[in-house]
Amino acid sequence: MHIRDLTYAEFGSVITEIDLGNLSLEEWERIYSLWNDRALLIFPKAFLTKDNQDTFAKRFGALEFPRTAISNVGKGGKIHHESGDDVVKVIRGNEGWHHDSTYMPVQAKGAVFTAEIIPAEGGLTGWADMRAAYDALDNDLRDTLSELSAYHSYYYSQGRDGYLPSSQNDDGTYNAYGFHDGEASLRPLVKVHPGTNRPNLLIGRHAHDIIGMEAQESEDFLDELNDFACFESRTYFHDWEEGDAVVWDNRRLMHRVTPYDMTQPRRMWHTRIAGSPDSELADNYR
Ligand SMILES: [Fe+2]
Repeated sequence: MHIRDLTYAEFGSVITEIDLGNLSLEEWERIYSLWNDRALLIFPKAFLTKDNQDTFAKRFGALEFPRTAISNVGKGGKIHHESGDDVVKVIRGNEGWHHDSTYMPVQAKGAVFTAEIIPAEGGLTGWADMRAAYDALDNDLRDTLSELSAYHSYYYSQGRDGYLPSSQNDDGTYNAYGFHDGEASLRPLVKVHPGTNRPNLLIGRHAHDIIGMEAQESEDFLDELNDFACFESRTYFHDWEEGDAVVWDNRRLMHRVTPYDMTQPRRMWHTRIAGSPDSELADNYR
C-alpha cells in the first residue's frame, strides 16, 4: 500500500498498490485513520465490482443507499441531454457545491464514488475543504456563524436553480430521492466533526433561510459564504479515469461536478454512507 498526499490540497491522499476487495485488518485501519485525518482518498484504477464497492463502503458505516448510478445514460442506452429532462436536472443540480443529504433528517457520513464511463471533457468532481474554510474566517465572523442555523432542503436548491422535476404529486412532493414530506432539516452553520472534534462550515446549495434573517438577506449571506468557503485554494478537482474510486468525508467536504457535454455518456456509481443520528441528525428532528 503506497500513500501519496496531494501537495496542492491538504485534505486528499492517493493510495495505490492496494486491493480494496481484499483488505487486511491492518490496511483497513490505516485507511480509516487516514480518511479521518485527510477526508478524501483516491484509489486510481481500482475497478471495484458492484459488491466490492458496497462492501468497502460498509466498512465506513451503514449505507444510506447501496451503489446507484449517477448517469445521463438511461435504460436501453438512451442519453439524457435535453434541458427539460428530469435526469439532466438532477445532474445539473450537482454542479453547485453541496454536502450530500443535508436535506434529509440525517446528513450522509460520506460516499464511495467510482467511474465507469467518462466524457472526453469536463465531468470532473471537485471537493472543497470546509474545515480549512472555517479556519480561514476572522474571529468576529466565526463568533457570528457559531450562533446561526439554516434550513437545508432539496426543494429549495433544485427550485432556485430551475431543476424541479416536471411532475408534482398532489401533496406537493416529487417522486425522486430527497423530496421528502417532512420538515426541511435545521442545521448549525458550524459543525463539530465527530471524528476529530474540529469545527467546519456546513453550508452549500441546499442551505437557506438562516434563523433570524429575512429570506433575501439569508440568501445573499450564504452565497457570499459559499463563495468564500469554496475559494480555489481550498479545492481539488479530480479528472477521472475509468476504474478510479474515491471515498470522501461528507461531513467535512463539499463537492460538485463540473459541466460536461451531456450528449456524451457518463456513468458514475455512488454508494452513500449514512451519518450517525448522534452527530448528523438535524436539530429539528431530535
Ligand atoms: Fe452530491
